Amino acid sequence: MDHFLYRDGILHAEDVSLTDIAAQVGTPFYVYSTATLERHFGLFTEALSGMEHLVCFAVKSNSNLAVLKLLGEMGAGMDVVSGGEYRRAIAAGVPGDRIVFSGVGKTREEMRLVLSQGIRQFNLESEPEMRALSEVATEMGVTAPVTVRVNPDVDARTHAKIATGKSENKFGIPISRAREVYAEIAALPGLDAVGIDVHIGSQLTDLEPFRQAYTKVAELTRELRADGHDIRRLDLGGGLGIPYERSNDAPPLPIEYGQVIRETVGDLGCEIEIEPGRLISGNAGIMVTGVIYVKEGEGRDFLIVDSAMNDLVRPAMYEAHHDIVPVVEPEPGVDQARYDIVGPICETGDTFAKARDMAPLKAGDLVAFRSAGAYGAVMASEYNSRPLIPEVLVMGDQFAVIRERPTYEEMLERDTIPAWL
Ligand code: LLP
Repeated sequence: MDHFLYRDGILHAEDVSLTDIAAQVGTPFYVYSTATLERHFGLFTEALSGMEHLVCFAVKSNSNLAVLKLLGEMGAGMDVVSGGEYRRAIAAGVPGDRIVFSGVGKTREEMRLVLSQGIRQFNLESEPEMRALSEVATEMGVTAPVTVRVNPDVDARTHAKIATGKSENKFGIPISRAREVYAEIAALPGLDAVGIDVHIGSQLTDLEPFRQAYTKVAELTRELRADGHDIRRLDLGGGLGIPYERSNDAPPLPIEYGQVIRETVGDLGCEIEIEPGRLISGNAGIMVTGVIYVKEGEGRDFLIVDSAMNDLVRPAMYEAHHDIVPVVEPEPGVDQARYDIVGPICETGDTFAKARDMAPLKAGDLVAFRSAGAYGAVMASEYNSRPLIPEVLVMGDQFAVIRERPTYEEMLERDTIPAWL
């Protein structure tokens, strides 16, 4: 459930009409719903109730400071994967002891930054990284809390570009080597192994891979404890999928996911951390765009819209489906037109959808891409010198621009022409 519904024939974000936002900020833009963000965060809190836990929002899915502040104030922790994301979490008021640091390529500079300002734990992904962190922490005279991200060699049954838990993926340390690695951590100065981390992929629509991975983590917890390690925290990653197509079966609910956690690792007495991104932010956001032209092609019509693959890359990059709906609600029973929905960028990959049936549209009409709150704005670029599009946050009947559309001057000013040219 989200808070983007038709009211009096116009699509609204909570109590705000999208035509009003479009009139004020221009198209295209992203808009997020506070109530949906709150609701989705609450679903995880509920799913893990009775277990000591921290829900660490995956900042990579939506890193706007206003979104992070909203979730942080609800008690969320943050999962960050770069010094930039860490700075965002801190700037949004989230304390370091609620921030976990993931990612395969943490630099020494990033390690120094987070150790000086506070961190809940590093999720280590390789032995060279483990040794580098030991050196950095020792130089600084501090102890770094760490987990090891284990790669459980489980098939997440999702798109190949976002599956991470198979042995061929670049992530984590093979679970078969985990005992050796924890032994080395115990022997190294500056590191304290507080738990185990796992993340097997994103947009999972089946609970079985989670069950398999978490069962392996539970076995490993027992083994490591028998080896003398004080494993007290389990970071179970993110990845629970969302419904992108209203017409399809809905993926499992957070409460069902919570049940898998309870059944697999619930009896270990560990504090549970999870790192959901998409399930919290995905359906809390939409992208609104205007139709520039309706072009009649041979055997097909193109809806040419004013957003493009640089604004929302998911269809081009993962063949992802987004429901696309008109902002003005069509009359019931109106004859459907069939469109290829494309952006203005000069490559064929700039196609959002093929052969979509929808009510006939004309130049100037507005359409909304649903489920665009996760991995939308954060993956945008300025390809074709198209400035990044604004982000808007709605709460009830209020809305605010939470990232301005940059001017063309600002975009050009970032380049410098050398004096010798
Ligand atoms: N934790 C780690 C270590 C991750 O790598 C990710 C996502 C998450 C948590 C959050 O996963 P989520 O709950 O959002 O599924 N750009 C792609 C998705 C990439 C996901 C990368 N890692 C897309 O647009 O589908």
